[in-house]
Amino acid sequence: MRRARLIGHGRYLPERIVSNDDLSQRVDTSDAWIRQRTGIRQRHMAEPNQVTSDLAVAAAEAALASAGLSIDAVDGVVLATSTPDNTYPATAARVQAKLGMTRGFAFDIAAVCSGFVYGLTIADNLIRGGQADTLLVIGAETNSRILDWEDRSTCVLFGDGAGAVLLRADVGTGTTADHGILTCHIYSDGRGYDALKVDGGPSSTGTVGHVRMNGGEVFKHAVQNMADAAMTAIAAAGLTPEQIDWIVPHQANQRIIDAIGRRLDLPMDRFVSTVADHANTSAASIPLALAEAIGDGRIRTGDLVLMQAMGAGFTWGSVLARL
Ligand code: UT7
Repeated sequence: MRRARLIGHGRYLPERIVSNDDLSQRVDTSDAWIRQRTGIRQRHMAEPNQVTSDLAVAAAEAALASAGLSIDAVDGVVLATSTPDNTYPATAARVQAKLGMTRGFAFDIAAVCSGFVYGLTIADNLIRGGQADTLLVIGAETNSRILDWEDRSTCVLFGDGAGAVLLRADVGTGTTADHGILTCHIYSDGRGYDALKVDGGPSSTGTVGHVRMNGGEVFKHAVQNMADAAMTAIAAAGLTPEQIDWIVPHQANQRIIDAIGRRLDLPMDRFVSTVADHANTSAASIPLALAEAIGDGRIRTGDLVLMQAMGAGFTWGSVLARL
């Protein structure tokens, strides 16, 4: 049985760090409020001359280096982003060119904070179906460009960054002992469209717009949907939560991560959390956290890793993989 095995990981965070105290100079907020309600201490912010494709390329190059592969080995680039360089073409095409890749395919995925989980799902299907052998899956965002810097209820929550993984076809036996992606589940419910959105767009306003969110509504769905998607993955694999080595959830709010831990009845030391340092980097949050935890030796080859996300749309989903 063909499996999509994770053979490389990389991440990139812009150098500039913005603290909660920095933000309290701009809007009526405080370090204490932000920490208590979200767990966020700081976020990274791209320089004015850095665009999403730059962040994506840096993460992709790190993923290629960690796998010891050159770009010539890559059949396609799958980029999850909600902050593209231009309305079109796909930012993935620009990433492809910047990486020096002159064959294969590249496309963007617009599933907002669930984009990386959607990207892994599509890449897994492309690899298992024989359409590709080696794929780069990237999540990259410059959220700072679409924030309303006067709106304290949203501008404190997000950050910029990029994470990437390299997937390669491998042969498994079809059991959960295999290395690679074991289960994927993706969902959406457009009734949540207005609860979290950017209030502009080419066909509606002709503007880019800013992030608007009904925080309480999104919080409720985030806990419920991410916990459900996690349980679905665990059940589909015939496992129990205790058998999962690491949970790498979307990083929106530490209180959401804590609540998922309670629902799965798993201790926080099984969770990778980067929300304090990165804030919510949308599609980049899971690959950033994953790359950090593989890079520092917490997640090791053979570990079972469960990723789950929830974002605007609403979209949500989970991916279970053995590293
Ligand atoms: O990636 C998926 C999408 N995002 C999420 O999953 C985020 C989900 N939502 C959340 O994380 C939380 O709902 C927030 C962090 C956004 C808000 O936390 P909350 O505990 O739900 O607070 P709240 O919205 O109920 O606001 C409580 C109070 C309000 O004041 P009043 O009306 O009670 O007087 C807000 O105006 O806190 C006020 N507030 C702030 N105060 C200081 C809102 N933002 C701030 C702020 N600083 N930055």
